[in-house]
Parts: sequence; structure tokens; C-alpha cells
Amino acid sequence: MNSLPTADAALAAAPAPPVDGPPIDVAAERRRTTGSTLASHFNAAGAALPTHGVVAAIVEHLRLEETKGGYEAAAERRGRLDDVYASAATLIGAESTEIALFDSASTGLRVMLDALRPQRGQRIVASSSTYVSHALHLMSLAREQGIDLVIAPYDERRRVDIAALEALLSDGVPSIVTVAHVPTSSGLVEPAAQIGEVVRRYGGTYILDATQSVGHLSVDVEEIGCDILVTTGRKFLRAPRGTGFAYVRDTLQDRLLPTAPDVRGARWTSSASWELDASARRYETWEGAVAARLGLGVALDEAIARGIPSTAQWLVAAGERLRAGLAGLDGVAVADPPGTRSAIVTFVIDGVAPADAVVELARRGVRVVSVPATHGQWDLGDRGVPSVVRASPHVYNDEADLAALVDGVAAIAAGVTR
Ligand SMILES: Cc1ncc(COP(=O)(O)O)c(C=O)c1O
Repeated sequence: MNSLPTADAALAAAPAPPVDGPPIDVAAERRRTTGSTLASHFNAAGAALPTHGVVAAIVEHLRLEETKGGYEAAAERRGRLDDVYASAATLIGAESTEIALFDSASTGLRVMLDALRPQRGQRIVASSSTYVSHALHLMSLAREQGIDLVIAPYDERRRVDIAALEALLSDGVPSIVTVAHVPTSSGLVEPAAQIGEVVRRYGGTYILDATQSVGHLSVDVEEIGCDILVTTGRKFLRAPRGTGFAYVRDTLQDRLLPTAPDVRGARWTSSASWELDASARRYETWEGAVAARLGLGVALDEAIARGIPSTAQWLVAAGERLRAGLAGLDGVAVADPPGTRSAIVTFVIDGVAPADAVVELARRGVRVVSVPATHGQWDLGDRGVPSVVRASPHVYNDEADLAALVDGVAAIAAGVTR
């Protein structure tokens, strides 16, 4: 550590609250996470570090494919592949028949939105926290199919304004409401369950993009009341890249038809007929990265075993401590909306472009990213913020990591280069 104001004092000013449930064992998490010992990795919101168990499951399956062939290897692991659905369902309070596996959240969002067949006369209400790829899809639908696209009204904390949403939906126009639980561009947490209650009252369909919240915060589809939930594997779940899953409420299954049924989810029964699988597998494709899916299964089981309430408390406390540490530095401004409580921390440094700060921190062994307004025009663009630095801890980040980040930012803000 350098001689600049240390992180310790600022971090100590915001002590972590007590944890209900088994405490997080950071030392044990680091022992099973090779990458955590090589650098201070603060990019869980991009792609978190996987554990040895996740990596072993992937490698083991690739070895099996090497010796047996891909189809034969998958057949041998059919039981474990089925367990992935059960684990995903357990994590979010769903049934395994309500789970479909995808290669990413963006694919899941696209397939599910298309399956809803939005039409002229319908309205899509999207939160200002909407992710770029989903927003581009929504805007394309609005432009090409004449669907009314409305950005959800938000309050002074940039969260969906519940009263204003209610006023909007009360006109009776059939609506799809789509919300990013936690955005890519700040630590904001949308009031997902309150939104669910309003959408249900007015008969709308509710899509929750939980890409940044599953594995990070408690996410229960019954409590939230969403009809569709989509997430990715590689972020707070610590699963491999190229994985993701969606939840579709079982009562919706018959109303939602994949626009391009695949041999995985449909049976071609005669020259002009086909039957869709009764479960959410109707949205899947035959081809997929089996090894990565098995890695996803291990990551899901590890997240469940660690305990989501404990993980969420630990992560939120780490986010708060970082925010407190950064806010205490001269020339540094935390960019998250007021009252933010999550493990995504965004900030700007006076006179330093976020992309340059990322490079400088990387030189110090601290990994963060910059998020430009082009990834969230309805949020960063709307706030007039061209770009932010984003730091997102996970349970493998120890005190030395937190201090390295705050000290590194302090040095950059003070114009100290190595
Ligand atoms: C809120 C949010 N939604 C969706 C996505 C897209 O996820 P994927 O890259 O897995 O498609 C991201 C990626 O950063 C995200 O942050």
C-alpha cells in the first residue's frame, strides 16, 4: 500500500452490518478462486471469477467429449444436465419446467420478448435502467412494428416511480413492462416486487432482467411477481461465459410461442404440423455448450450452498464500504443514485477519463471497467454522464483488495502515477 490516505479509515467508517445466516468465509472463497490471488478483481458485474469447482466441471466434460464424442458425453451426463434446471429453479423459487437455458441474457431477452409477439396497439414500458441490447431490440420493435415504447417514469433516486407507473397503466392499454433489476451503469436496485404488484393489478406482462441481480441479491419470482425473468451465468453467479437462463411462469407457457421453434423444443409430427414441448425448453435450441452448462450447474449449487441472504448482505456491505471510501477522497465523486444499496459501485475522478482510470488501476493490479453512456442512454445519457468507472466486488475480495482499490483511486485523483 502507498502513503496516500489509506482506505482503512474510510472503510472503517462504514462497517459491514451483521450477517443473518452462515457468514461469508472470504479466505475459503479465495482458496478456491485462483484469480483472486493474482489481482484485485472488481468486475463481478462484467464477469466474476469462477471457482475451482466450476472450472473442473467444464474441463472434465471437455475431456469426456475428447474421448467419447460430444453427443455420447452429453448422454452420459444427462442426469447432471437435468439438475442444472432444478438448481436454477431452486435459486429463484421456480419449478424446473419453468427454466430455459440460453447462451446469454441478451438471447434470453430477445427470444422471450419475441415469443410475446408484441403488436401495434400494445405498449412496452421499459425502465430507464434497461440494458443496451434489450433497448435496441425494443426500439427496433417500436420503429418497425409501430409499438408504443415508453420509458418508465422514475423518481428522484432514478427508480421506477410506482405511483406514476400505476397512473400510466391505469388507461388499460395492454402493456409489457420490462425492467432491469440492477442496471449495468449504476448500483441502482429497482423496486422489483412493487412493480410486479402494479403490473399484475393492471393485467400487464412483466419481464425482469435480473442479469445483475441473480447471485447478488435475493431474487424470488413469486415474491417479485414477474412473468419472465432472464439472467446470465458469468456475472454474480460466477458461472462460465456463454451461459444464461430464463424463467417463464408456467401459466404463461401456452400464450408464448417461440417465433422460430427448434428441434430441441418442438417435435415435427407430420409434413405440416409440430408440437411444442410443454415446458420452457420449448424456447431452447438443440445446440449448446454442454461443458459450460455443467459449469453453470456447479456455480448455481455453490451459490445456493453459500446462501443468497449471506452473500447479498456481504456484497451490499462491500459496496457500501467502497462507496464510503471513495466518497471520502478529494476529486472523486460516487456516481450511483442516492440511497444505492448493491455491489455495483460507480464513480468518476476529476479530470481523468474513466477509460484512463481503468488502465491506471490495472497497472496497480486492480481490475475495474468503464461503462460508457452508449451502454445505457436512458440512464447515463439521460443524466448527462458520458462514462463512469465501475467496480463490482464479490465474496473473494478481501480487505487488502478493497484498500488497493480505494488507495489506487486516491493516487490517480491526486495525479500520482507509477
Ligand atoms: C442489466 C444487464 N442486462 C443484460 C445484459 C446482457 O447480458 P449478456 O451479455 O449475457 O447478454 C447485461 C450485461 O452486462 C446487463 O448488465
